[in-house]
Amino acid sequence: MAWVPSIKKVLVASFSGCLFGEQHPEVFSNDVSGAHMTRAFGGQPMIRKDGAAHAAERSIINPTLRPKMIAQVWEQRFRTNANTYLEELEAAGPGADLNEVFAAPLAAKNLIDLLGLTGVSPTDLARWSADFIAGAGNVLDSDDIWLRCQRSRAEVDVALDEAFRRLRNHADDSMTSLLLHSGMSLESVRANVILAISGGVNEPQHITTSSVSLLTQHPEHLAWAREDAGNFANIFQETVRFQSPIGMVTRETKTSTEIDGFAIPAQSQVGLLVASANRDATKFENPDLFDPRRPERRHLGFGSGNHMCAGKWAAETAIGRIAVPALYERFPGLSTDPANPGTWDGWAFRGYASLPVIW
Ligand code: HEM
Repeated sequence: MAWVPSIKKVLVASFSGCLFGEQHPEVFSNDVSGAHMTRAFGGQPMIRKDGAAHAAERSIINPTLRPKMIAQVWEQRFRTNANTYLEELEAAGPGADLNEVFAAPLAAKNLIDLLGLTGVSPTDLARWSADFIAGAGNVLDSDDIWLRCQRSRAEVDVALDEAFRRLRNHADDSMTSLLLHSGMSLESVRANVILAISGGVNEPQHITTSSVSLLTQHPEHLAWAREDAGNFANIFQETVRFQSPIGMVTRETKTSTEIDGFAIPAQSQVGLLVASANRDATKFENPDLFDPRRPERRHLGFGSGNHMCAGKWAAETAIGRIAVPALYERFPGLSTDPANPGTWDGWAFRGYASLPVIW
């Protein structure tokens, strides 16, 4: 644990400490005062609410994100979208940037479908997502980042006004439709759609590129995954543990408390470093080894407790069970480019910014 003055947070690195924080919402509140996320999103989304207020909003989107609905409604669209961007990758040819040509637009298109934002382009959605993430993490208060958030919010408002007009009379299974018809205020609908935009693109995108990078480094695991399609789900989960795309989640203490024997005063902002917890040697044997066959699989890459990721089944299906296996089916010799290792970016939200591939 460490108090880090530049970001005014107590950072917790152990698995036990992060789990404790996630599972004791009565002490570790999500309603973080002065949260950059609320300013960036123009309202308070569910991830910044506690107790009944959070549960009421979360229960609205849960039904369409459960495994049964993923299989019945979304899986086929995820397949169609994966095929679209496989074509693009093939056309771009060996040396193409997997992030730019496949991972980013695919994650964006899948989310456009889940949100019911017909007519929005994957490029715009990905740009909005990047702006909101920058705003949620704008701990140094850059004016430029606030301006980007403002501009993107105005564009999302236009897309949502169009979606509201359509969905009011023709409800569908999309998250926006469920939120709109729940009776919550339009400001909350907008804040929760923006939450999904910022939280639903980067992580699946980063897991796609990280999976290909890790499978290039570990051909033995790729050979194992090819033996049984179900093994790709383990590759997905181990990638989320090993290169967690969300490094930190934030809480604020309501009372004084203690983690791992250290006192934390009330009203402290606490950063739970889930990426670090996922490499804790007291929890995982050989934590710095990528091993999709490891016996201990319970990681914190999707969080834990009441706020555990709402999109985890959608992401596992879209990326782990569809996109990554499809990449290797279409390009059996796929690997990262040894001559061009790509670039890595981010801290709270982290992953490859570019990853050239060959086949
Ligand atoms: C590999 C992909 C993903 C990872 C690793 C991931 C990770 C996370 C994490 C760590 C949290 C915060 C948990 C906490 O504060 O304790 C979260 C929350 C959330 N995620 Fe994801 N996520 C992924 C994909 C998605 C997708 C595709 C969607 C949208 C469909 C989504 C929607 C959400 C929402 C709405 C929340 C807030 C839940 C709440 O406050 O109750 N996520 N996610």
